Amino acid sequence: MSLPLPLKVIRITQDSPVLKTYVFAHNLRAKPGQFVMVWLPGVDEVPMSVGWQTEQECHLGIANAGDCTAKIHERVKVGDRLGIRGPYGNPFTFQGCSKIVLVGGGYGTPPILNLAQQTVSAGIETIVLLGARNKEYLLYEKQFESLKTDLRVATDDGSKGHKGFVTDLLEKELEKGGIDCVYTCGPEKMMVKVAEMAEDYGVESQVSLERHMKCGFGICGQCCMDDSGIRLCKEGPVLAGSRALKHTEFGKYRRAASGKMEKI
Ligand SMILES: Cc1cc2nc3c(=O)[nH]c(=O)nc-3n(C[C@H](O)[C@H](O)[C@H](O)COP(=O)(O)OP(=O)(O)OC[C@H]3O[C@@H](n4cnc5c(N)ncnc54)[C@H](O)[C@@H]3O)c2cc1C
Ligand code: FES
Repeated sequence: MSLPLPLKVIRITQDSPVLKTYVFAHNLRAKPGQFVMVWLPGVDEVPMSVGWQTEQECHLGIANAGDCTAKIHERVKVGDRLGIRGPYGNPFTFQGCSKIVLVGGGYGTPPILNLAQQTVSAGIETIVLLGARNKEYLLYEKQFESLKTDLRVATDDGSKGHKGFVTDLLEKELEKGGIDCVYTCGPEKMMVKVAEMAEDYGVESQVSLERHMKCGFGICGQCCMDDSGIRLCKEGPVLAGSRALKHTEFGKYRRAASGKMEKI
């Protein structure tokens, strides 16, 4: 196990009403879809996907979703340090693709941004579909535009882009054809729909799942998924959509820290 690196926060931006991006002057050399464990001493350690990365910086987009993340938002200021260990997990893969669609929803957007950085620089035609409840919650539009991805957005209330689900936009792209693979990270019900739609059109997909994680590197068994028993921190978090769909719990339930089943 690698020890957490005490990385100093050099910048913080508020990117939606619930999400702040914490920037560190450190290159994690994470592959897109990989995650790190973020330690707030005395509170907890939580998994976060690696977002935007450059040679000099890495960004973590952290939503205020509960105890630890609320304390990160409240307590951590520029100049403070967070303990970061990793990166861990299986990344998205895109070798051999020439045209792909990325679908991001909510705080699933950071790894999609990291993936877009890599696929654009690999010369792959990259269509990005972003969904949010309203325009205030749309994440990283400027960064996607700076990459010159083909960006479309959908909001539930129609305050920006298509009014409705981001999967409506995906269906249009799949109908047009020529897509090699669809990649997604976001609310699990959305990812089930994306994987099912891709299957319907005979297109491969990759999904990045979340389960409660403790060790993050395959020894505690906390993140095992029914029925295969795969450890999501090790064999995931990115799985082929077809493989994810074989899991009885995908889109239905997951386990809390205690092991208790929770409906999704
Ligand atoms: C691989 C992976 C990548 C993730 N990437 C991001 C990201 O880029 N940005 C982001 O905002 N969030 C991300 N998350 C979710 C994030 O880890 C949880 O929102 C966070 O752990 C909540 O912790 P909390 O103590 O604030 O909330 P709690 O009050 O403890 O719980 C709130 C919710 O978060 C879930 N949760 C709590 N602790 C963990 C844990 N150790 N592992 C997994 N889920 C947990 C709970 O099941 C619950 O549904 C990711 C999760 C995983 C597994
Ligand atoms: S979090 Fe420990 S095995 Fe996955």
